[in-house]
Amino acid sequence: MWTKEQLQETIKEKMGGYLLVAVSNRQPFSHVMKSGKIICQRQPGGVITALHPVLQATGGTWISVGVSPFDRQAVDSNQKVKLPYENPTYELRRIFLSKDEMDRYYYGYANEGLWPLSHIAYTRPSFAASDWATYQQVNRTFADTILKEVGEQKAFVWVHDFHLTLVGKYLREANRPNLVTSFFWHIPWPNSEAFRICPQKEEILEGLLAYDLLGFQIRHHCDNFLAAVDQELESRIDREKTAVNFQTHETLIRPFPISIDFQAVSQQASSERVVQCTERIRDEYAMRDKKILVGVDRIDYTKGIPEKFRAVDRFLEKYPGYKEKFVLFQLGQVSRIHIQRYKDLNDELNLLVEEINWKHSQGTWVPIIFTRAYFSYDDILALYRIADVCLVSSLHDGMNLVAKEFVAARSDARGVLLLSQFTGAARELADSLLINPYDTETFADAIAQAFSMSLEEQEKRMRKMQAVVEQNNIYRWAGKVLSQLLKFEFQEA
Ligand code: F6P
Repeated sequence: MWTKEQLQETIKEKMGGYLLVAVSNRQPFSHVMKSGKIICQRQPGGVITALHPVLQATGGTWISVGVSPFDRQAVDSNQKVKLPYENPTYELRRIFLSKDEMDRYYYGYANEGLWPLSHIAYTRPSFAASDWATYQQVNRTFADTILKEVGEQKAFVWVHDFHLTLVGKYLREANRPNLVTSFFWHIPWPNSEAFRICPQKEEILEGLLAYDLLGFQIRHHCDNFLAAVDQELESRIDREKTAVNFQTHETLIRPFPISIDFQAVSQQASSERVVQCTERIRDEYAMRDKKILVGVDRIDYTKGIPEKFRAVDRFLEKYPGYKEKFVLFQLGQVSRIHIQRYKDLNDELNLLVEEINWKHSQGTWVPIIFTRAYFSYDDILALYRIADVCLVSSLHDGMNLVAKEFVAARSDARGVLLLSQFTGAARELADSLLINPYDTETFADAIAQAFSMSLEEQEKRMRKMQAVVEQNNIYRWAGKVLSQLLKFEFQEA
């Protein structure tokens, strides 16, 4: 099995002399003011869950956007801060953008254009020309920052997510033979019918084909990408190598299903600190004598949160005997709130919770507890530990690491995972109960099935899923990417 140490060994052996530079829009930690003190808070999202342990193992620099005024105060004259705060192993170099740049590059082109374009969630993408101009300009800022960071050193530049499709192209234009570049697309790649509506489709494809290696979560997304290239660009697709030759450059296209640090999550979830959090949370939310359903999601229309609430409503209509016997605890991590669609979703969720709770409440009991409070990573692990059932109901999701974290957190082999069949994770976690979040009827029945599952059955399924996630962990994922990029043979550990 791949471990942190094995990844470190591989890097020493194969990447000697290379600096590792990871690049993403979202930063791993943000500095915020809490009770009169500046503290460093871990950020939500799949990129952080996956990359933070890798950077801890490899060292190097992570370049991302700083967002708070305290982020500015915390950096040195090179805009850097050492992380993690208690035991630094890598550097974070922050880029600061103006409000206008954030509006057009992040909220605008990335999240109102590319995000809905890539997810089948029936939200219409919009592409404003001025957003595209700023998107290009911010991608240039990223590329310039990388070039400054790297100087003349040999470096492996690893760019992440749909915000930064053009960075590789700008790096290539700078003509620096000291760089090898890779890009990982964390979300689904749409089919070519959906993709062709994007007014900047050629520029996006050309941008991506400037990288040396392009990674997607699953083979299906690689195939969709190749179909888009085939349809939109004058290029040569080498099916044998699964590579695209565009102009004079070759890009390898590969699936790398992303993962988590299984051992670390498992150990932390069993720690005394997390046990204390479970006690506190159970008391604070009066959940002691109840069966507990848990949901942990960024508040995003792709995550199927209203669908989850409707399934709970239907579950109570069909199985009223469960009244007062369970609670759905839904943690919603606020994101992209300046976009109207997200404001509407937040309003919709408030109304739905109010309506469903009013309809089914008895005495002090309500079926849904929905909170947007900040939960530390220990608190999130505590939620996984107290869950009888974890509900992941995404309408479309590249991978979904909440599902994998839940599995890793349950060293007691208890608990049931209800997982949307429209996540990348569903392909690996075949021992979950797979649901279709659009089908309220069968979703409600699956909740009943989960509640009545025997402990033996829970244990059997959980152990099988744990074996899968433990084996396909984040270090193996990073090892696979490196082996493709640096062209050495990947060995199972
Ligand atoms: O889930 C896809 C994703 O892009 C993750 O890769 C990333 O962590 C998250 O969404 C970003 O969300 P936000 O816009 O809140 O940073």
